[in-house]
Amino acid sequence: MGAAKPPTWRDLHDDARRRLRDAGVDSPAAEARWFLEHVSGEPGDEVIVSPAPATRRGTVQLEGLLTRRLAGEPLQYVLGEWAFREHDLLVDRRVLIPRPETEVVVELALAEVERLGERRGRPDPWGAAITTFAVADLGTGSGAIAIALERSLPEAEVWATDLSPDALAVARANIAGTGASRVRTAEGHWFEALDDALRGELLLVVSNPPYIAESEVDALPAAVIEWEPYGALISGPTGLEAITRILGEAPVWLAPGGVVVLEHAPHQAEAVVGLARDAGFVEARVEADLTGRPRALVARRD
Ligand SMILES: C[S@@+](CC[C@H](N)C(=O)[O-])C[C@H]1O[C@@H](n2cnc3c(N)ncnc32)[C@H](O)[C@@H]1O
Repeated sequence: MGAAKPPTWRDLHDDARRRLRDAGVDSPAAEARWFLEHVSGEPGDEVIVSPAPATRRGTVQLEGLLTRRLAGEPLQYVLGEWAFREHDLLVDRRVLIPRPETEVVVELALAEVERLGERRGRPDPWGAAITTFAVADLGTGSGAIAIALERSLPEAEVWATDLSPDALAVARANIAGTGASRVRTAEGHWFEALDDALRGELLLVVSNPPYIAESEVDALPAAVIEWEPYGALISGPTGLEAITRILGEAPVWLAPGGVVVLEHAPHQAEAVVGLARDAGFVEARVEADLTGRPRALVARRD
């Protein structure tokens, strides 16, 4: 009797898709395609119909990934990377998975910096890194916001802070991996992480802080609360603790005319505008995310 024929890539794909579907995963076809792309190194569209025998290594690796996914681990952690704007960032349980709404926050922040007269564009890979202004991403997690700002603002010095040393380790790996050499990291509570010399100097402060209230924990999807870092999600009893603190301190750290852009939950829109006015900001408005829900505060100091 001859040895059993090894499975083709297509066989592996069909089996993965069936197992994901049977487990109740929301998008089994898309996930199966991502997994096959990941383990084969081939474009997803081609590998899922490929009659070529799968490699032994790919077969074993796929089984390991599927086992984790079928146990409920988020796809992004299983893959170990996720796209944020044009970059694939390393992500694991030390950091929040970057979300599409945060890409909107970055876009708003870049528009504000441009409005303040700074140049937006790709950094010159051969040019000297001369910085003319400073911005900060507080609670950087994977480094997603800070890296996106650095890659689009060729003259910016970008500060990326976090309270969690674990998160900062991931951010540093992503900074190195994306070549975002003008990002500097600092550990500590919100503005406390920053050097005193930056007081009154920041053109922009961006943050996607924790904004979920303790009482809302039970309403979160299981995959979020069981896998993503609690300290990245939950702010405290009201959900507004971190935002209140950042807004309260931001005017001291911003340069005249400087702007703060903060992500928040849709139901917090009215509250965050009130908090910005209480903190002395002269302009405060809320912008919508890609689904049309109020999602980001943009506030300017005088
Ligand atoms: C919602 S996550 C955002 C991560 C990333 N900026 C993003 O948008 O994907 C919030 C981040 O704030 C950090 N954080 C929580 N409390 C903090 C504090 N007191 N000071 C600084 N960072 C804090 C968490 O560790 C986490 O990385």
